[in-house]
Amino acid sequence: MGNTDAQPLQGMSDISGPEVLLWQWMESRAREVFRLYGFEEVRTPLLERTEVFCRALGEGTDVVQKEMYAFQDRGGRNVALRPEGTAGVIRHWCSAGNPPDARLYYLGPMFRAERPQAGRKRQFHQMGVEAVGAPSPAADAECIALLVHLFQTWGLKDFDVRVHTRGTPEDQSAVREGFVASVRPQAGALCEECRRRIEVHPLRILDCKNEGCRKIAAALPPVTSYMSESSRAYLQNVLRLLDRMGVPARMDSSLIRGLDYYAHTIWEITHAGLGAQDALAGGGRYRIDMTGRMVEGVGFAVGMERVILALQSAGTVPAHGDARCRVWLVSLGNAAVEANLSLLQHIRRMGVPCGMDLSGRSMKAQMRAADRSGAPLVVIRGDDELARGEVAVKHMRESREERISESEFRSRMAPSPAG
Ligand code: HAM
Repeated sequence: MGNTDAQPLQGMSDISGPEVLLWQWMESRAREVFRLYGFEEVRTPLLERTEVFCRALGEGTDVVQKEMYAFQDRGGRNVALRPEGTAGVIRHWCSAGNPPDARLYYLGPMFRAERPQAGRKRQFHQMGVEAVGAPSPAADAECIALLVHLFQTWGLKDFDVRVHTRGTPEDQSAVREGFVASVRPQAGALCEECRRRIEVHPLRILDCKNEGCRKIAAALPPVTSYMSESSRAYLQNVLRLLDRMGVPARMDSSLIRGLDYYAHTIWEITHAGLGAQDALAGGGRYRIDMTGRMVEGVGFAVGMERVILALQSAGTVPAHGDARCRVWLVSLGNAAVEANLSLLQHIRRMGVPCGMDLSGRSMKAQMRAADRSGAPLVVIRGDDELARGEVAVKHMRESREERISESEFRSRMAPSPAG
């Protein structure tokens, strides 16, 4: 296997070294925040029947049309790697007998066969929540507040929370017709992709990154003008409640979101420190037809890789723990190795990360390993120390050495009673 063969597939990454500590820290802080809001974890399979995603996300969406890793398994069944978490969570909820007041969170890898670029991967990680329940501006506002709370817990600053609405499902054909009628006279000036969108997914024109299309879109009447009064009032309520809760958010009439299951509130959080792929998280209220049953809920998903990029670009990666050993044991001779193995076990049982060489390397090699470990305490033991029941303790940061009895050293490792 050459070096290139040892690389992961394009658009997929190993997460290792100090970066793993950052991921673990972010995940554990997130679990605390989710618990505050009464959400429980659910772990759904990475592989589902393709139909679960097609029906939930919408047959015509980019994710279903172009981005799913969908294939037939050995039994000829159509299956797909999950491109997002909502569909699987709702499938789970239906399979669990529709428990009331379900508030579920999830985290893990998602898969989309997109063209990789900065912030866009084929395997990426989402963390998200889904709260099943009938439309309620309070539930939507709470969900956005939770997302902002999460970002603040991670120490993220300068993010932009944009909120909009898709209107009620009953509004959607009027919105589509009104929007198409307003944009059609300008079709010739749109990019090729948007000209195609007029027929299949007209509202996605609002999402186009092309400068010319953006100018045209900005001059069109807002899509809310085609909605019912109750849809507009719903959005205003969400915005008012967010304001009341002290959550920074603004209305953005160009926000549309690329999945078909949304109805009513939608939102996205972006960060200026990222390039073209600047969405850190997206969410909204949805209606999903799961095996003949219409399920309503609200939720969001955060793209973990992008949040890390944003923290790095702002230079605000928080302190996130230290995997280094606090003690390293060095042994001279077989008898010392055995005595140190027993000491090693004692120190670890006391909850102190500790390491030693187990492959019989020379004193010099062991000292180099001790240095590399970064441990502030290095304990050295040879025949002399063994005979006297002592250990030599090197305090690496202070360049000081002391000889103390093994029992004294063991008791220093015990947690302090106050702690
Ligand atoms: P989404 O907007 O497709 O929504 O994805 C949510 C977030 O996942 C994005 O804002 C982005 O940070 C991240 N993301 C998406 N694709 C990629 C990629 N290829 N590479 C890196 N990061 C990516 C959903 O997935 C919905 N399920 C959210 C939701 C939950 N709506 C209601 N409940």
